[in-house]
Amino acid sequence: MRLKNKVSLITGASRGIGRAIAIKFASEGSNIILNYNRNESSALRICNEIEKMNVECLPVKADVSRKDDVGTMVKRSLDRFGYIDVLVNNAGIMITGTNRTEDLERMVGVNLYSMVYTIEALRENFMKRGGKIINIASVAGIVTSLTGTTFYSITKGAVITLTRRYAFDLGKYGVNVNAIAPGFIETDLTRKGKSDEEWRRTVEDISSKTALGRIGRPEDIANAAIFLASGESDFITGQVIVVDGGRQDFFTHSL
Ligand SMILES: NC(=O)c1ccc[n+]([C@@H]2O[C@H](COP(=O)([O-])OP(=O)(O)OC[C@H]3O[C@@H](n4cnc5c(N)ncnc54)[C@H](OP(=O)(O)O)[C@@H]3O)[C@@H](O)[C@H]2O)c1
Repeated sequence: MRLKNKVSLITGASRGIGRAIAIKFASEGSNIILNYNRNESSALRICNEIEKMNVECLPVKADVSRKDDVGTMVKRSLDRFGYIDVLVNNAGIMITGTNRTEDLERMVGVNLYSMVYTIEALRENFMKRGGKIINIASVAGIVTSLTGTTFYSITKGAVITLTRRYAFDLGKYGVNVNAIAPGFIETDLTRKGKSDEEWRRTVEDISSKTALGRIGRPEDIANAAIFLASGESDFITGQVIVVDGGRQDFFTHSL
């Protein structure tokens, strides 16, 4: 029960990595504010599952690339719980193989501005109480070898800089700000647009380049997130934890 009686807001928690983090945090005693954008039925199902763990779950629809939506989401959260201990900025989209600046703008909105909006909307809350902020970056923000991900990588590189800057800005108030850089994790984001055969080949290829011989599961990221949300990481801030099973084709793991 590492998060007993805590309140955690997780963005983009209706699927994939965000869902796994919400379930893990609830299993460790945290009340959950579960943000989603389009998948209401899935968000409600996850909240039902979470409430069976004897914690509260508040589903909140908000497009986190919109400042007004974030403001409303934070207000509803504070009206219900009074405070937030842990913020996980997880919502993200990946558009690959594009040089259309409209796609860059969409990704900057969801992957980057959303994090500034949530942190700024919760600045006062965190300055008063301290807490933990966890930003989901990507190995794409560190390495340069992932073909077709230039625009996505730009947003994730910026998430790493944002994490370090906020760590210094908010550290004196007892706020830890860290990032997780996942490698290749099985979710809709990675499976989208691939036939079963293409997926099988992708998994085989990436597994063969990975020290631990497999691709990642959303739970692998949730396990790192619970550590960063708990008291066990109280003296860690401004860091990026790479969770990728040991990709041998990436050279620049540590920054
Ligand atoms: N999967 C990977 O291999 C991988 C690797 C590195 C980093 N990441 C990062 O990990 C995070 C989660 O990715 P994932 O793989 O779990 O993706 P996913 O399965 O596609 O799920 C994305 C989640 O983000 C939400 N979302 C998207 N746009 C949103 C918006 N404008 N406002 C609020 N929520 C929004 C979605 O909500 P709705 O379904 O309700 O619309 C969904 O819950 C992302 O930041 C991604 O960049 C993933």
